[in-house]
Amino acid sequence: MSEEKSIIMDLEILEGLPQPQIEARITPSSGTGMSRKVYIESYGCQMNFSDSEIVASILQKQGFDTTTEIEEADVVFLNTCSIREKAEQTVRNRLQQINGLKKHKPELTVGVLGCMAERLKSKFLDEEKIVDLVAGPDAYRDLPLLIEKVDDGQKAVNTFLSREETYADISPVRLNSNGVTAFISIMRGCDNMCTFCVVPFTRGRERSRDPHSIVAEAKDLFDKGYREVTLLGQNVDSYTWSEEENNKARLNSKPIHERVNFAQLLERVALVNTELRIRFSTSHPKDITDEVLQVMARHENICNYIHLPVQSGSSAVLKRMNRGYSREWYLERVNRMREILGPDCGLSSDMIAGFCGETEQDHQDTLSLMDAVRFDFSYMFMYSERPGTLAEKRFKDDVPEETKKRRLSEIIARQNRHSLENNQRDIGKVFKVLVEGTSRRSAEFLQGRNSANKVIIFPKQNKEKGQYVYVRVSRCTGATLVGELEE
Ligand code: SAH
Ligand code: SF4
Ligand code: F3S
Repeated sequence: MSEEKSIIMDLEILEGLPQPQIEARITPSSGTGMSRKVYIESYGCQMNFSDSEIVASILQKQGFDTTTEIEEADVVFLNTCSIREKAEQTVRNRLQQINGLKKHKPELTVGVLGCMAERLKSKFLDEEKIVDLVAGPDAYRDLPLLIEKVDDGQKAVNTFLSREETYADISPVRLNSNGVTAFISIMRGCDNMCTFCVVPFTRGRERSRDPHSIVAEAKDLFDKGYREVTLLGQNVDSYTWSEEENNKARLNSKPIHERVNFAQLLERVALVNTELRIRFSTSHPKDITDEVLQVMARHENICNYIHLPVQSGSSAVLKRMNRGYSREWYLERVNRMREILGPDCGLSSDMIAGFCGETEQDHQDTLSLMDAVRFDFSYMFMYSERPGTLAEKRFKDDVPEETKKRRLSEIIARQNRHSLENNQRDIGKVFKVLVEGTSRRSAEFLQGRNSANKVIIFPKQNKEKGQYVYVRVSRCTGATLVGELEE
């Protein structure tokens, strides 16, 4: 999940919004003077933002420029999210607005990409008349042909889910980048089948990308001046790649027995350069191994931070969620993490309030788990039933909306307290910070993060983005540390 987004969300949580608002992201202009222009607006998680960079790369090769001005676009793409009802509603509202635009410009092609496209498939064309093109997450190589089809006056749909596609050979155009931090997609899909979750249906089966292409991408980014990469997947701990499985066809000629798990991949990327920081997201509590924790401990440049979504503190709820671990298992994993990586290792979570059958006691269990663990921050949501998921088929969405809201606000209040208290403990400490750019609040300040993923703001002086600096923390809010440079 996006670090940058996490900061935005964290700030919003502090400002008391009941639920994090996910901003739409617009792919910036490439401005190479090509004839046709595509406007891409992305919703949802970092996976989608990364996919939009792949889409931009595929279309650039076909003579398209990206633009930030929807009015000047020939093709408009919305890269959509289905994770909660609200995410889909946002896209439908946006399509209404774009409908107004299309009335003045009938030749405009409107396409829907991503998870909502996959979920609804050709039904999208019936439900939203304005849509010309529907492409699921594994169908982006087909976009040039789909656009051609629309040019010929037809509607175009490709929602085929692949067992192999990882876009390994496509180098994403990093138009949204600060030039310091970047995301590298290491796997696609998810096989976990958490009962509340739509992702296995919208992104298909899990598959891991060739580690050589991942390491090559990390090297290339380092050479271009990047100093931090985040390895991305829905469940990075189940990353597994083998020459045999991935290259069955070629095996006859040259048998190679190479197997790579996540811990090994992490180590390979860490060895690219000690000046390149490595982060990863998302880890799964049932799968994170001691081997991964030990690799993290061995390499200073693998950041001391784990996003380990717990979802609920009640073992009964976790069972209904099909998360594959209990409250006790989760607490044991956190203890192990702190044993191996020390008490300062950053830890964050995702939490769902009001899942099917959640009792008041279950909710209290979530709060008490939060007290036991003391997360640095969390993404917190009300349960939103999704069509086609196992929970929709098996359980009743029986927690009243008002109760969900109240429980969520209690979870948020608890998290805010922990975030602030954890940050207060950092006052007086000195951290190594990678400078990411100018602070959002003031041009006189720079901002970056420490290894534990905490945002730190400090006076600019003569420092520049991409540098490592040492900062002594002097004050804080729940979301940000503020400090002075140490020479
Ligand atoms: N693969 C990641 C999660 C991806 S979805 C993981 O397993 O941790 C991001 C978060 O959205 C989830 O962790 C969960 O907290 C939340 N989420 C997913 N489905 C949801 C639903 N139906 N209602 C509310 N929140 C949901
Ligand atoms: Fe969804 Fe669970 Fe897969 Fe995460 S691990 S994407 S929550 S099914
Ligand atoms: Fe991401 Fe939303 Fe799809 S969270 S994987 S874009 S459903």
